[in-house]
Amino acid sequence: MKILITGANGQLGTDLCRMLNGHQLIPLTIDDGDICDFSFIKRAIVSNRPDVIINTAAYVRVDDCEDNRDLAYRVNALGARNVAVAAEDINALLLHISTDYVFGGEKESHNQPYTEFDHPFPCNTYGESKLAGDNYVKHLCRRHIIVRSSALFGIAGAMGKGGNFVETMLRLGSEKDEIRVVNDQVFSPTFTYDLAIRIAQLIETEYYGVINVTNSGTCSWYDFAVEIMKEAGLNTHVIPVSSAEYPTRARRPAYSVLDNYQAKLLNLKEMRPWKEALHAYFKQKQATGNV
Ligand SMILES: NC(=O)c1ccc[n+]([C@@H]2O[C@H](COP(=O)([O-])OP(=O)(O)OC[C@H]3O[C@@H](n4cnc5c(N)ncnc54)[C@H](OP(=O)(O)O)[C@@H]3O)[C@@H](O)[C@H]2O)c1
Repeated sequence: MKILITGANGQLGTDLCRMLNGHQLIPLTIDDGDICDFSFIKRAIVSNRPDVIINTAAYVRVDDCEDNRDLAYRVNALGARNVAVAAEDINALLLHISTDYVFGGEKESHNQPYTEFDHPFPCNTYGESKLAGDNYVKHLCRRHIIVRSSALFGIAGAMGKGGNFVETMLRLGSEKDEIRVVNDQVFSPTFTYDLAIRIAQLIETEYYGVINVTNSGTCSWYDFAVEIMKEAGLNTHVIPVSSAEYPTRARRPAYSVLDNYQAKLLNLKEMRPWKEALHAYFKQKQATGNV
């Protein structure tokens, strides 16, 4: 198949390019052009006529989205719209990446995993703009799959490309004896390598619609940080704190666990537990010399 990937040098994009290298790939990065530029993306898609388009490009810095609301909507909503319109034009399959942060804005606390059939309710600009992008994709491109995932960590984040929570913790852990990490936000961390494997399967199907894809199990940022220190052999003392004690510009969901319910209905294998995936991340880092 001919597959066009946006955000090709991001965390997920990098693993997708590795995973799908048996196909004819058209990897696009921001250096090739901006997905907000409709004429660029339309030309890239119509001239290459890919069978599949995977849109990973997004403005993902959650706190910065609060300060740069227009940019968040331009990239995450209008950028996704541009890709959807061009994909529809050539009848390509569009696999668009979404986020658990489209949930979590309800007034009453939620402690049941969100299925693909739950009604989104974001609590910050990043989530709102991503939800607007999802809606454009749903309405403008018939052959779409929207993959929702959460708290991504991938090797590209360890190669100086954007970073991720694991790398931030490793940096802090090597600088400080103790760190304070939020313990009242619960989610499922997901390794982009595992997510890329599932995406490679999905593009071979006609499982159109929304599908949640996360590693199994749940944790808080505190639990995640403790496991990272353990994997890295660091003795840094991790202190659990509440979100109120660690204010950020963007509000974050107290609970944004995604039930991989569609995968169950489709008899797809459950993704491995996040701790195993984290272990594999460290092994990959070692193998690629990014330690
Ligand atoms: N990271 C997470 O925790 C997380 C969780 C759930 C869902 N997601 C979703 O998963 C997807 C991939 O995330 P990721 O962690 O791989 O992010 P990432 O590493 O930041 O990759 C995103 C890529 O998109 C590029 N990009 C940004 N704006 C662009 C634009 N206007 N035009 C073209 N390219 C642009 C970025 O380039 P520059 O870096 O040069 O700007 C980057 O290479 C995103 O859709 C995100 O919303 C992420």
